[in-house]
Amino acid sequence: MRTNLFSPLEIRSLWLKNRLVMSPMQQYCSPDGLVGAWHLVHLGSRAVGGVGLVITEATAVTPHGRNTLFDTGLWNDAQVAAWQPVVQFVQAQGAKIAVQLWHAGGKGSHAHPSAGFHYLPPADGGWLTKSASAVSLDKQHTSEPLTIPEIKALVADFAVAAQRAVQAGFDAIELHAGHGYLFHQFYSGLVNHRHDEYGGSFENRIRLLVETVRAIRAVVPATMPLLVRLSAVDFSDEPLAWQLTDSLRLTAALQPHGVDVVTASAGGFGMPDKAKIKPLYQVPYAEKIKAGTGILTGTVGLITTPEQANTIIIDGQADLVFLARELLRDPYFPLRAAAALQAETPVPVPYLRAF
Ligand SMILES: Cc1cc2nc3c(=O)[nH]c(=O)nc-3n(C[C@H](O)[C@H](O)[C@H](O)COP(=O)(O)O)c2cc1C
Repeated sequence: MRTNLFSPLEIRSLWLKNRLVMSPMQQYCSPDGLVGAWHLVHLGSRAVGGVGLVITEATAVTPHGRNTLFDTGLWNDAQVAAWQPVVQFVQAQGAKIAVQLWHAGGKGSHAHPSAGFHYLPPADGGWLTKSASAVSLDKQHTSEPLTIPEIKALVADFAVAAQRAVQAGFDAIELHAGHGYLFHQFYSGLVNHRHDEYGGSFENRIRLLVETVRAIRAVVPATMPLLVRLSAVDFSDEPLAWQLTDSLRLTAALQPHGVDVVTASAGGFGMPDKAKIKPLYQVPYAEKIKAGTGILTGTVGLITTPEQANTIIIDGQADLVFLARELLRDPYFPLRAAAALQAETPVPVPYLRAF
């Protein structure tokens, strides 16, 4: 039988029952970086709904890696303990769960979205943000460039957070390296104006990400999959903007260091051509990265129907289909998709009378 949306996938030794992934979505409801009842229900209900893999929202590796004071974190033991029941509940539903680790860099220190998402200066409980260079990413404040010792410390912070992810019981880790956050601030020439070994050439601009991948791989079990979410392109034609060919080169550079899956998103810097933002518009990024490097890919963005998702897998354009907003509208999308596609999928026992 041809591989389809409900075909299992094995990544290292992690077995996913299908190709549907809950895409990471920040909830901004975690004071002190702690998850709670909201996350148990929010992530747990998508597992009940039948996704093969749940990915948590972007979770900070240090307090200053946050976007707001309400982001989830994995920089202390209390956060590990708070994640454990969420992880265990998701796994008990037959889904797997990955934590998305990130650092917001120069896009950090903002008020809660409901309070306007403006920059919070240190006097108001925020912090001076650090980035690749002295840049103003929110047009409200300017970040300071990270020093080399600070970069080394950051790489170590990611490795320690990865160890905490293992302690919490996560099945996999995704690094958020897109959407204009710290790793993207380094690899995009639009923002990285450094002249040291972390700036200038392509190899220098990807160095932070490569070093972080290596540091994480060195401390997590060899059986644990590592995913990386990229912005496959900057929405810009400027000479220093990141292009799809760069994403292929980056993927090829990451593969030998143990990255198993690249999730191809886009944007963060530059302005998208709104006319081009339509259903499936990001699928060609995953397709070209997969074809050019042979890596497993995930695609994401404006995928809303079972048929769209199934066709992506059947046609071999990507190996995983990430859904974000459609799963907010309908946590049971996978069960509905299985019925629409006449595919077999396990239904939670307490819900069997409805199916
Ligand atoms: C509420 C919300 C929060 C998001 N937070 C994150 C995040 O934490 N990390 C991330 O990589 N992408 C984040 N995204 C982007 C989504 O994962 C996804 O890439 C995007 O919404 C496009 O997919 P969709 O059309 O299925 O919604 C977020 C999107 C939404 C709607």
